Amino acid sequence: MPDPQVLTLVLAWIGALVVFCFLLEPFLSLLQVCRSLLAPWFLPHEETSLPKKFGSWALITGSTDGIGKAYALELAKRGMNIVLVSRNINKLRDAQREIESKYSVKTKAIQVDFSVDKDATQIVKKELQDLPIGILVNNVGKQYEYPMYLGEVPEKELWDIINVNVGAVTLMCRAFIEDMKQRGRGAIVNVSSGSEIQPLPLMTVYAATKTYVRNFTLALRSEYAPHGITIQHLAPMFVATKMNHFSEKINRKSLFVPDAESYARYAVATLGKMDNSTGYWTHGLQTFLCEIPPEWFRIYVGGHMNKIFRNDYLKSSHRIKSR
Ligand SMILES: NC(=O)c1ccc[n+]([C@@H]2O[C@H](COP(=O)([O-])OP(=O)(O)OC[C@H]3O[C@@H](n4cnc5c(N)ncnc54)[C@H](OP(=O)(O)O)[C@@H]3O)[C@@H](O)[C@H]2O)c1
Repeated sequence: MPDPQVLTLVLAWIGALVVFCFLLEPFLSLLQVCRSLLAPWFLPHEETSLPKKFGSWALITGSTDGIGKAYALELAKRGMNIVLVSRNINKLRDAQREIESKYSVKTKAIQVDFSVDKDATQIVKKELQDLPIGILVNNVGKQYEYPMYLGEVPEKELWDIINVNVGAVTLMCRAFIEDMKQRGRGAIVNVSSGSEIQPLPLMTVYAATKTYVRNFTLALRSEYAPHGITIQHLAPMFVATKMNHFSEKINRKSLFVPDAESYARYAVATLGKMDNSTGYWTHGLQTFLCEIPPEWFRIYVGGHMNKIFRNDYLKSSHRIKSR
């Protein structure tokens, strides 16, 4: 029989360790954001530290809306020149104007559709004409129109999701990483998703592509971090953007669903400081809690949530049609 006092002590230590792990990520990202908010007054050199650390140009894919646009603005605020990459030239020009009017940095816009073919990456490279990219943010991502069973998703949409979420991230990393290696510095941020944590019914392919992003990013870091390159795996939970238009529940700002601007403020603050992050403090708590139960339970809950979102979408589209 073990000594009850020793047993109590062991259990107390285990409990303390669990609480420590639970609070570590959200606490660190909160700390990072406080630091960066106070930096202009107390650490003026911090404001320019991203260009100094990684190089002065950042390229963000999918940067005319949502997280990508907010991330681009946040990097511009910290003195980075910005290359915007998306499909729509008018939205690109608008984003360029907004960034240049708010911050005195240079911008460049490249119109490309990553779902079309693998040459999209080469088009980007050609347009840049040897402009050295210090920070590459692989943000572009595609999701189903609404939670669907596999057989309901149009074939073309499935192929686009794989090309954008897997193909573009892979080839963009390949296109820029060797230049970064030669310069001995640079950062790559690969935007995954909380849906990577477990297989996700009704978003089967989307979640599977994000598991790819996670594994690819972690292995890539192991290959290139020794050459001075920061490779961050960023896995947000829900952020209120047009991607979640199918349900008001996840498209409305709340404590657990930040808007893109609040999300990007936190996420950029973790760059260069945390290799793996959810990018937002309440997302850190959510991820921790999600990872506790067994996988079968998470698959069940994820599928159940997606059925609720699917019903929200079908009800609202029915309302619109019957008007
Ligand atoms: N929102 C969330 O809750 C959430 C949660 C976890 C992870 N994420 C991930 O975060 C990233 C950004 O998501 P978001 O919610 O900000 O998305 P979003 O609001 O839908 O914005 C997507 C951006 O990508 C561009 N884009 C879309 N398809 C493209 C293509 N084929 N080629 C080039 N550009 C394209 C869009 O601009 P154009 O239409 O003008 O091309 C837009 O600028 C994605 O990787 C997503 O998976 C989002």
